[in-house]
Amino acid sequence: MKPKVFISAPIPKKVEDYIAQHCDYRIWDKKEPIPPEILAREVADVKGLITKKGAINKEFLSQAPHLKVVSTISVGYDSFDIEAMRERNVLGTHTPFVLDETVADLVFGLILSAARRLPELDRWVKEGNWGKEKDSERNFGVDVHHTTLGIIGMGRIGEKIARRAALGFEMDVLYNSNSRKPEAEEKYGARYSEVDELLASSDFVVVMLPLTQETHHIIGEKQFGLMKPNAIFINCARGQVVDEKALVRALQEKKIRGAGLDVFEVEPVGQDNPLLQMDNVVTLPHIGSATHNTRFDMAMRAAENLVAGVTGQVPPDVVKELKSLAEL
Ligand code: DGY
Repeated sequence: MKPKVFISAPIPKKVEDYIAQHCDYRIWDKKEPIPPEILAREVADVKGLITKKGAINKEFLSQAPHLKVVSTISVGYDSFDIEAMRERNVLGTHTPFVLDETVADLVFGLILSAARRLPELDRWVKEGNWGKEKDSERNFGVDVHHTTLGIIGMGRIGEKIARRAALGFEMDVLYNSNSRKPEAEEKYGARYSEVDELLASSDFVVVMLPLTQETHHIIGEKQFGLMKPNAIFINCARGQVVDEKALVRALQEKKIRGAGLDVFEVEPVGQDNPLLQMDNVVTLPHIGSATHNTRFDMAMRAAENLVAGVTGQVPPDVVKELKSLAEL
C-alpha cells in the first residue's frame, strides 16, 4: 500500500505525476489558499504533507496524528514550530540551493530599481511627462557600480549576491555572518565586518537573514540611524526581520535614501501601509524565487523530500534543527 500524502497547494503536473508514482495523494489545486477547516480534514489520515505556508505548530499537528514529514516549497521555514515538530517526531524539509541564483538576481533588480528609480520613471514616461519638464536633473539617480554593498546574512544566497556585486559591478563587498566565508573573501574580496561598521560604511545594505526568534526586528531604529543618508536598504528575506515602523520613520526623516522591498511584516501588504506611498521605495509581492524554472525545481525538490520521508529514506533537505530526528 502506498503512503497517504496531502498536497496543500497547486504544483506542476510533472511533480504531481512523480508523487503519484510513490504515494496515494490528494491535492488542493485551487488558486485560493486552502481554508483551515478543509486542511484539518485532509491531514487527518496522512503521513506526509506538502505545504507553502501556514503554521506547522502544536495545534496543527494535533489534527494530523499520523504525520511523519512536512515538506515546504520554500527555503525559509519560519512556519515550522521546531519544538512542536521535534516533540511529535515530525521531520521538516525545505528547498535550499535551487533558488539561490534567482533570488540573487532579484536582489540586484531591487538595487538597480531603487538606485536608478526605475519603477518611478517608468510610471512618469507612461503618464506622458517626458518632454514636459525642463529640469535636466529631475530623473537622476545614484550609481551602483564601484560603490559599497553590505550583506547581513552571508548564506548561499548572500554569496551569490556578493559574486554579482564584485565581479559584475566592481563593488566593495562587506558582510556579516555567524561564520567567516573564506571562499567569498578570496574570490570576491568580501570583507567580514561587524554589523555597526557595515551599516555605517555601505551604500547598499542587503538583509538576507532567515526569520527566527533571534532575528525578529533585528534591523530597527538604531540600525537605520547608523546607515549613511544616501544608503538604500534592500530586504528580500522576511518582513519581520525588520521593524517596519522604524523603516518608515527612517525614510520619512531622510535618514536613508530609499528601499527595495520584496517582503513585508504583513503579507499581502495592506494598501494603507505608508511604504506604498513613497516614490523612493520599490515594492514587490514576495517574488524572490518566482520564475517558472525555479518554482518548478522547488516543487520537485519538495516532492523528492516528501517521497523520501514517507518511504523510510532520509530526505535530502531536512532542516538543520531536525536533522537528529532523521538519524534515528
Ligand atoms: C522562500 O523560499 O523562502 C521564499 O521566500 C518563498 O517563500
